[in-house]
Amino acid sequence: MRYFYAILLFLVVAVLAIAGFRGQLSKKPPVLLFGDMHEQPKFRAQDSSSLFPDRRADRPAVPGTVPFVNAKQETYPFLAPRDRFREDRYLTTGEIGDGSVGETDFGAGFPIRITHELMLQGERRYEIHCAVCHGRTGNGEGITRQYGMIATPSFHDTRLREMSDGEIYSVIVHGRGTMGEYGSKLTVEERWAVTAYVRALQLAGHASPEDVPEALREGMGL
Ligand code: HEC
Repeated sequence: MRYFYAILLFLVVAVLAIAGFRGQLSKKPPVLLFGDMHEQPKFRAQDSSSLFPDRRADRPAVPGTVPFVNAKQETYPFLAPRDRFREDRYLTTGEIGDGSVGETDFGAGFPIRITHELMLQGERRYEIHCAVCHGRTGNGEGITRQYGMIATPSFHDTRLREMSDGEIYSVIVHGRGTMGEYGSKLTVEERWAVTAYVRALQLAGHASPEDVPEALREGMGL
């Protein structure tokens, strides 16, 4: 039996010595049993590629790409201290007050100029990002309701009509409850544009014939 242990020890040492110890340097190429992790068809940064006319493997960003982190626009609390944009805190967070943790005061009013273009931008972004759940008119009857997402509220509820602009903005940035965040998909300007469009939907949902300008009433059956 003693010989058996001695031979076993010898064999173990021999196998380890042949296989090489971890961290040991060698000039020989490694033996790869499954090479597909090492040898991947991929481009490294700044590689060239014959696939594209300009022969660059790095492709420029698609126009309109929303940067995930942009020093001017970033509002994520875990990336930016709450007071990083103190001077335009309302613009980037929708919040006012001193920003002490645990207290959230939302402001009212729009910190950017509302133009016709901005409203069109808001409409477009709303229809891309929000209408699937909140519905194109904001009644909460988007397509996802048919698939069981029944918690989506209507923007025409009194509570949401009375909600401040800053709070709507903040819900867009961070999400709320079962709603996810859209801050990473919309720039600061687009978030305010969507907020303005939500306000327009609310106005439209509670308008009377008198709210329609005289010139446009014709043909509306009013
Ligand atoms: C995937 C579905 C979905 C999408 C897309 C979505 N929402 Fe929501 N939203 C919800 C749900 C569900 C709630 C209710 C959340 C809760 O109370 O738990 C909600 C709530 C809200 C509220 C009210 C928050 C409150 O305090 O009651 C606002 C305002 C809002 N959404 C705005 C938006 C805007 C603007 C967009 C587009 C940028 C958007 N939502 C996109 C599902 C969605």
